[in-house]
Amino acid sequence: MYTNGRRPQNQAHGLLNTHYTDPGVFAQEQRVIFQRSWQIVGRLEDLAKSGDYLTCTVGGEPIVVVRDRAGLHAMYNVCAHRGMRLAEGQGNYRRLYCPYHGWTYDLDGRLRGVPYEKCLPGVDRSQIRLKPVQVESWGGFVFVNVEPDAPSLLDSLGGMVERWRGYTAHWEDLREVKRYTYDEPINWKIFMENATDYYHIPFIHSETLELPPIIENVACGQHFQLTPVTPEENYRRFFDLIFPNMYFHVGPSKVQLFRVVPLTPNSSHVDVILYQTAEQAETYPINDPRMHRDINQILHEDFMICRVLQEQASSRAFRILYTATDLEEGVDHFDKMVLAALDQPEFAVERES
Ligand code: FES
Ligand SMILES: [Fe+2]
Repeated sequence: MYTNGRRPQNQAHGLLNTHYTDPGVFAQEQRVIFQRSWQIVGRLEDLAKSGDYLTCTVGGEPIVVVRDRAGLHAMYNVCAHRGMRLAEGQGNYRRLYCPYHGWTYDLDGRLRGVPYEKCLPGVDRSQIRLKPVQVESWGGFVFVNVEPDAPSLLDSLGGMVERWRGYTAHWEDLREVKRYTYDEPINWKIFMENATDYYHIPFIHSETLELPPIIENVACGQHFQLTPVTPEENYRRFFDLIFPNMYFHVGPSKVQLFRVVPLTPNSSHVDVILYQTAEQAETYPINDPRMHRDINQILHEDFMICRVLQEQASSRAFRILYTATDLEEGVDHFDKMVLAALDQPEFAVERES
C-alpha cells in the first residue's frame, strides 16, 4: 500500500507498445486476467424472478446467469451436445432449450430432455449438466468468475468493500437510470489508464469538467482508491479502480460504473452505467438533458485522445516512463498490476534521473 508521494520516483511500470497491439498478449490477458477475475455482469433486480436470465461474455467465454427458486446459477452458454448457444440476450425462460437438436436443461443447468434419446445409448442424462461458473453478488451487483478456484468475491474485493460501506446511500437500493455504450478502436488498457488519470483533466476537459483536488491515493490489493476533496458535508467521493477493467465513480448524486470489455487487441466495448437510489433520483433528477449531454461530451473528449494513443501504440517509441505523483498514481498502479498478472515484472524499469 502506498499513499501520496511514497512511490519511488525513479520507478516506472509503463507497458511496452506491444502490450496494446499484440494478439499474443491479448490472448494471454484473456486467460490470466479476465478468466480469473470477478466481473460485474448485471444487477440482482435484472434476475429477480425464477427463470430470469442474462447473457454475457467474460474473458471471451459465453456465459448465462439464471435465477431459479434455489438462487442464482451461472454456466457456460454452450450446449453439452454440440456446443450451440442456448440463451440469447436477456429475458425469462422456463427451461433452457437448445434450438439445434432440442436438448432441454433445467434452470440450474441439469440436462432434462433429449429428443430421440434411444439414438444416444451412452448418454446418461443425470450425469450431464452445463459447465458451471462461479456467481456471487455484493451491493446488488452480480459478479461472475470463470475460474473455479478463484478466491471468493469478498476476498478478491478486500478492503474496497469496507470503504464502499461508508457510502451514505444503500448500494442494494441503486437502480440503473441511464446507460451509455460505445464500441471504440482502442485497447482496453488505454481506456483504463485514461480513466484513472487526473492529470489530463484541465487540458482535455477544460470546458466540461472541474474536479476537486485529490486528497488520497491508496493501492488496495490489485485495486486502487482515489479520494478527492469533498465539498459536500458528510460525503466522501470515491473514484475506485476495480482491477482489471472496472471503475466506480461514487458521489452524492449517483454511482457511475465504467466497464471496458476487450474485443480485440485494438477494439473494446465500453459501458458507462448510472445508478441512483429513489432518494437520489428525486434530489438529483438524472433526466436533465444537460446532464446527458455533458457526460457524452466528456466521454467523447476522452475517446478522441484514446483513439490517437491507440494509433501511437504501433510506434516503438511509445512507452509510459513518466507518471506524475498524485495525479497519475492510478495509471502506474494499473500498469504494475497488469505486468504482475502477465508475470512480466522485468518490464518495470528503473528510470534514469
Ligand atoms: S447442439 Fe444443442 S442439442 Fe445439439
Ligand atoms: Fe478524461
